Amino acid sequence: ARSDALPRDMEGLHVVVSAGGTREPLDPVRFLGNRSSGKQGYALARTAVQRGARVTLVSAHTAALPEPAGAEIINAGTAAELRDAVHKAAADADVVVMAAAVADFRPTHRAEFKIKKTEADPDAVALTRNADVLAELVENRRREPGSGQVASQVIVGFAAETGDNGSDVLDHARAKLARKGCDLLVVNRVGEGKAFETEDNEGWLLSADGTERAIAFGSKAQVASEVWDAVVSTISRSRR
Ligand code: CTP
Ligand code: CA
Repeated sequence: ARSDALPRDMEGLHVVVSAGGTREPLDPVRFLGNRSSGKQGYALARTAVQRGARVTLVSAHTAALPEPAGAEIINAGTAAELRDAVHKAAADADVVVMAAAVADFRPTHRAEFKIKKTEADPDAVALTRNADVLAELVENRRREPGSGQVASQVIVGFAAETGDNGSDVLDHARAKLARKGCDLLVVNRVGEGKAFETEDNEGWLLSADGTERAIAFGSKAQVASEVWDAVVSTISRSRR
């Protein structure tokens, strides 16, 4: 996308975007991870810079991606590191977009030395829940003032859903939007070669006010633009 073709409608906004997949270490060389490439989050960061925003990109592990010019990049390896970085950056942010694939669980014990192979099968890996960063952002905003977070902040979640027997992707996503309490939820169908590690993306944009619309199939930059359009209109409605 040519930056001069984009509207400069995000000037004066500080946006925080998390991207990529966290890695939860088992020992110094192994981790539990996920397939997130970070491409959608990086496209969001790049597009927001082009539209005039100040952008903080909290980046977990990604494919080899070019750094979005003009964004401040903070690297985070684990879910716990990403949590700290997002909360710090969110304190004065107008918008926070959680595009990162944050691990729900981490290995309870992180071995100090590489785990050695033995003749017997190893013990099962014990897992501990990680904090839900998106839910914490919503909770902090609700508690403002005193939480150190902007009360009118717009909070955007992502959901990659497969659907399953009896319940389709949108049913899962509507329930997730209600559960999370964020303002917008970007929903992608995953599986069958969709979303992860691909150039293109498709899905739906669900709003807390009940509005739902399809995101046209297109590049991750085009999807990013649609997300920012929705964010900008949410802000202008709330500030009117
Ligand atoms: N998220 C988060 N912190 C976590 C897990 C998820 O902030 N520990 C955020 C993701 O960045 C995403 C949103 O929550 O924006 C939805 O993530 P998802 O994994 O779809 O939802 P979960 O509530 O973890 O539910 P589940 O994995 O069971 O579908
Ligand atoms: Ca999850």
